[in-house]
Amino acid sequence: MAFVERVFSGVQPTGNLHLGNYLGAIVNFVKMQETHNCIYCVVDMHALTQPVEVWGGPSELARNTREVTAAFIAAGIDPKKHIVFNQSQVSGHAELAWIFNCVARVGWLNRMTQFKEKAGKDRENASVGLYDYPVLMAADILLYRATHVPVGDDQKQHLELSRDIAQKFNNDFGDSIRGHGYNDGMYFPLPEPFITGPATRVMSLRDGTKKMSKSDASDYSRINLTDDADTIAQKIRKAKTDPEPLPSEEKGLEPRPEADNLVGIYAALSERPKAEVLREFGGGQFSSFKNALVELCVTKLSPIAAEMKRLVADPGHVDAILIDGADRARTIAAETMKATQDIVGFVRKR
Ligand code: TRP
Repeated sequence: MAFVERVFSGVQPTGNLHLGNYLGAIVNFVKMQETHNCIYCVVDMHALTQPVEVWGGPSELARNTREVTAAFIAAGIDPKKHIVFNQSQVSGHAELAWIFNCVARVGWLNRMTQFKEKAGKDRENASVGLYDYPVLMAADILLYRATHVPVGDDQKQHLELSRDIAQKFNNDFGDSIRGHGYNDGMYFPLPEPFITGPATRVMSLRDGTKKMSKSDASDYSRINLTDDADTIAQKIRKAKTDPEPLPSEEKGLEPRPEADNLVGIYAALSERPKAEVLREFGGGQFSSFKNALVELCVTKLSPIAAEMKRLVADPGHVDAILIDGADRARTIAAETMKATQDIVGFVRKR
């Protein structure tokens, strides 16, 4: 069976969104609206997998859920044409995750590098949810039988696990799937990652070898989507560079991670290739390039920050968007859950 192409992606409501989230994920989300039906989910159930100090407790969770929603809308996601909602409002995510828990193997989860990183040394003390995180993620995607998943490259391994789960489900229940009219035995599609963002890896402004991250202790390492123009200017002026002028060709950036990162950000925000940016700025000093970068960042990000501020000030409006999105998501999810229950052999009301 040819699956209808559908896009699904999720963002966790844990702390401030920054330029890395924007260029690595959200810009792609916006673009994919032109070609696909898209479902964008604020994954509040995933936020709970980390210690409460990390996600900040109940009022922070609600605040951050609304802020991520506001960022989606401010960046140009259309919640009427597409679907924007928070995960916990659609119970199918948890229901399908249970079935997938019984399909996924312990050995598969033991290979997940993100669990090892996030659990750190004290693995015994990590939540069971953190370990099971990738199974819930597979349920998120497959509950809508989504075929394309725009994500940052750190999520590639989780996407592979989603494919393995879909494939094993299709194999384990193949006869039943065919018996229910899916003649090729494929009930779930094998979702494809979509990683071709303009800048899939935005690095820290203080260390060009580390990813820009909300957990970095220094706020100068990142540009938050809610930073005002003065803050953006300060952060870029203080960004680490080296004493050489900018190179004129891309290969001159290779041994210079900080220069490469700033040029990459400029290229992504101006939607031009790095080579072209270097043709304009190559041979010049960082100070003048940084001035141009400040101006570009402020021009691109200020309208988003302003719109986010306006939306966050009206939580009733944001909540209404999430409720409407969840209602529409639930309709699709209900179809998948009914078919899945039939395929597995769960007795249900008809
Ligand atoms: N794990 C993803 C991240 O941290 C968030 C996520 C949860 C997600 N469920 C998803 C992404 C489903 C894509 C599809 O970035």
